Amino acid sequence: MAVDYSRHAADYDRVRADEAMDREFWLRGLVEVGHLRDGESVLDLGAGTGRFAQLLSTTNRVVAIDSSDAMLRIARAKGPFECVEGDGHRLPFRADTFDLAMVVMVLHHLGDYGAALRDAARVAHRVVVATSDMTTRRLGILEEAFPSLLAIDRKRFPPIPAIVHALEAAGFRAPIVVDRAYVRTLTTEEQLDRVRHRYLSTFDLLPPGEYERGLRFLETEMPRRYGDRFEISARFTFVGATR
Ligand SMILES: C[S@@+](CC[C@H](N)C(=O)[O-])C[C@H]1O[C@@H](n2cnc3c(N)ncnc32)[C@H](O)[C@@H]1O
Repeated sequence: MAVDYSRHAADYDRVRADEAMDREFWLRGLVEVGHLRDGESVLDLGAGTGRFAQLLSTTNRVVAIDSSDAMLRIARAKGPFECVEGDGHRLPFRADTFDLAMVVMVLHHLGDYGAALRDAARVAHRVVVATSDMTTRRLGILEEAFPSLLAIDRKRFPPIPAIVHALEAAGFRAPIVVDRAYVRTLTTEEQLDRVRHRYLSTFDLLPPGEYERGLRFLETEMPRRYGDRFEISARFTFVGATR
């Protein structure tokens, strides 16, 4: 079942973006693993609200593509970068248009990520994928609150070796895999607010009633266990390759 991003667009940046983490964790990972240099052209595939397109647009020419009109409406207001509504499986660009395609937390949404990576290889010389590795993913108290969540994600997120294989099949050479630790401290109320606004797309895929029960559990249990500081400790994986 696909996640409907039109329902999340308005709150997306409030509950997911964080200027410091976006720059210091995500953008740094994308630039380093994607070997991106100032002035190179970038395709942000599944760009959503354009949070990375916007950060990069001061140094690079960026085109943001996404299938959700609601997400792109927010991205367009951030300019100056081009926004294109389209399907990541069939990119509406000529061969060799971009130096780098970046694909951030998108592969698990695609019906055929291998086809999307093949088309990325047609339009871009290099690629960098950012994703979550389900063999190491831990969600702490969220696993207690939402018992089905991890199992659902394990089926949605492509395994890292499968991504590496798909990149090679797409014509990219010798993909490199870089796993990085992500640590972010929030107030407990901020984290609860993120859950209330369904900051993980998997919340939309839980069995009936599980989201509501889990939220009630967290509202009672988080302040009791953590007081008013909540630390997120996670890992994300960047995979980069050149053709
Ligand atoms: C988790 S969001 C990631 C957005 C952005 N990359 C970020 O990290 O903030 C996933 C995005 O993939 C987009 N998406 C899903 N299926 C797509 C497709 N077939 N083609 C293009 N974009 C797609 C969604 O609309 C959504 O904006």
